[in-house]
Amino acid sequence: MSGSRSDSRDNRRSGNGESRRLRYGRLLALSVASAAAFAVLFYLWGHELLPRAAGRWRGTFPFVGAVALTLAVALFLTEWFGFAGREVRKVRLALRDFLFLCSLAFLLFFAAKGVIDLLAETPTLVRSVPPRVYGYLIPLPAFAMTVRILINSETAILFTVAASVLSAAAASGRWSAMLFLLLVGTAGASRSRRVQDRYRMLWVGVQTAPVCAVAAVALELAFYGSGSIFWAAAFGAANGLLSGPIALAVLPVAEYAFGYASDIRLMELGHTGHPLLRRLMVEAPGTFHHSVVVGTLAEAGALAIGANPVLCRVAALYHDVGKLGKAHYFSENQAGALNVHDALSPGLSRTVILSHVKEGTRLGKEHRLGDRIVEIIEQHHGTSVLYCFLDKARPMIRDRKASEEMFRYPGPKPRTREAAIVMLADAAEAAVRSLHQPSPGGVEETVQGIIDRVYLDGQLNECDMTLRDLHAVGRAISQVLAAVSHGRVDYPEAGKGASGKVS
Ligand SMILES: [Fe+2]
Ligand SMILES: [Fe+2]
Repeated sequence: MSGSRSDSRDNRRSGNGESRRLRYGRLLALSVASAAAFAVLFYLWGHELLPRAAGRWRGTFPFVGAVALTLAVALFLTEWFGFAGREVRKVRLALRDFLFLCSLAFLLFFAAKGVIDLLAETPTLVRSVPPRVYGYLIPLPAFAMTVRILINSETAILFTVAASVLSAAAASGRWSAMLFLLLVGTAGASRSRRVQDRYRMLWVGVQTAPVCAVAAVALELAFYGSGSIFWAAAFGAANGLLSGPIALAVLPVAEYAFGYASDIRLMELGHTGHPLLRRLMVEAPGTFHHSVVVGTLAEAGALAIGANPVLCRVAALYHDVGKLGKAHYFSENQAGALNVHDALSPGLSRTVILSHVKEGTRLGKEHRLGDRIVEIIEQHHGTSVLYCFLDKARPMIRDRKASEEMFRYPGPKPRTREAAIVMLADAAEAAVRSLHQPSPGGVEETVQGIIDRVYLDGQLNECDMTLRDLHAVGRAISQVLAAVSHGRVDYPEAGKGASGKVS
């Protein structure tokens, strides 16, 4: 297990040549498409950005320049993200991520151009401000924060470097602008860990502001002397302070357009007022209770290993929404009623039970729960076996009318630590619920048995769980389960003397 991280890297490296070529081809096509869009910008503003080249190429400049720039930017993007996708563990950019990053880079380029051009041409409050100083207002910190919050820190660093290079072009390719953008983008991204509410987002901006101000002053002094350092400091600080509100404005749009779910969105989804949770509460109260308990267990497990506790708790709340509509087929909703599976063939039971994963994934997408929750819904059973019906199906398997593989969930296996934690919490809760009056020792033994079974079945092969993580998660789940499922002390019956008083 401890080798799972290097295993997954090796697997990716040894992926067959065809899929690698396919991936590269797709990346190249995307790079060319996005670079062509940059070329349009270059066509419009090429004369200003590269006046020397414009003079040399005369009338053909915009066309030749646009083609040349398309090639250069496409090469840059392909090499940059191709290399990172291969070698940086957490950079696995899907088509959607690439489109999102290119859209942000575009927006940033327009914002940079707008800030510099518009402010420089507006009758300024203070005529002594040179146009280049407006470059310190380019809002890269806000965009880098957004990428860190919606994707991850590794991608945020890559985006900051690529966007600094591309948007420095809007500031006539000045070194000072590029260095400033690199520095403040990194500062913004590094401070936006676990942003779970709007106030925290604004606070990140406040924390970034002094870094932006100092960077602007230092670079202004180093490249242009002390003439405009006051304005550089003011614009740098304003850039930092505005990064929080700008990121807050960009986040919901990006979440809606690209299907991401930030921690802020997760917190909103965690309230039981969401229509899906309300339906679950009314139509499948047993599943709702099970999901709440799994959420508590998963949150404790995540806290024990430094995974994302909000994601674990909220994803666990929604992990079984696919049971809606067929709630009475699942044991937690039967509550003493007849077991409907007694009247069904194992094959039919299997079909109904397995379908809750697919149905949950569909409902998650339909209600725009965001990719992180949908992935966990999809992966929460991995490819594990449906043990309860396997025994019933043994005669069919013996007669070769069915196979054991048919009684496995379709997968995929958990690919993140959070998905693995939800899987373990789910299985542990179900197993402990079936115990009659469990003791703390019995709970611990049952949870350990579940973890061993999941691990030995290879369900954790595709996520980055170490053995140490697994033990810590098991301990945390056992502790919470022992606390919530201990036998309740019976209240003495009324009228049996002094001992009957309830305090
Ligand atoms: Fe499930
Ligand atoms: Fe479940």
